[in-house]
Amino acid sequence: MPFVRAIYPGTFDPPTNGHLDVVSRGSKVFDHLVVAVLHNTSKGAPLFTTKERAEMLTEVTKPFGNVTVATFDGLLVDFALQQGATAVLRGIRAISDYEYEIQMAMMNRKLAPSLETVFMMPAEKYTYVSSRLIKGVYQLNGDISELVPPLVLQRLQEKRAGRTPELGGEVPGEV
Ligand SMILES: Nc1ncnc2c1ncn2[C@@H]1O[C@H](COP(=O)(O)OP(=O)(O)OP(=O)(O)O)[C@@H](O)[C@H]1O
Ligand SMILES: [Mg+2]
Repeated sequence: MPFVRAIYPGTFDPPTNGHLDVVSRGSKVFDHLVVAVLHNTSKGAPLFTTKERAEMLTEVTKPFGNVTVATFDGLLVDFALQQGATAVLRGIRAISDYEYEIQMAMMNRKLAPSLETVFMMPAEKYTYVSSRLIKGVYQLNGDISELVPPLVLQRLQEKRAGRTPELGGEVPGEV
């Protein structure tokens, strides 16, 4: 059996238990998993810097012996090939993720046919969790303690204490 290294790319602003769930599943299937934090995103200014996001991920993925964390910019396929990866791991929460994810997977296949995209579903209890929603709910003092690792909750509290201007995000009910 060949050694399979997979890349799990994302913004991870911040990492959630949904991300960790996917990491955990991926670490069981692949020989090595690289969690790759995208530096420049089209999502607007992130709450946490790339460095902060990578540090949090490094800490919370420590229990997995075959998971490492990296940051990247530019095309995912370029980074993946440069890392010697043969698979890209993505999480699928709901039908709403499907269309975008398939489109990206097809484009990545066009760009790098040797890379296979693999989709994994999280535990049911995390199917509604996104970083954007976490930030939005936290900003309004909602309890998110069961949805993010303790370290992330602590970092969110520190951001708030440091009076970082905007926690960003939308919550249900906001128009
Ligand atoms: N709760 C979750 N369950 C399964 N997969 C997830 C979950 N949250 C994110 N993912 C997947 O992780 C990858 C990286 O996602 P991303 O960094 O965009 O996180 P996100 O929570 O969707 O953040 P944002 O709200 O900023 O888009 C994507 O493949 C995404 O579908
Ligand atoms: Mg997303």
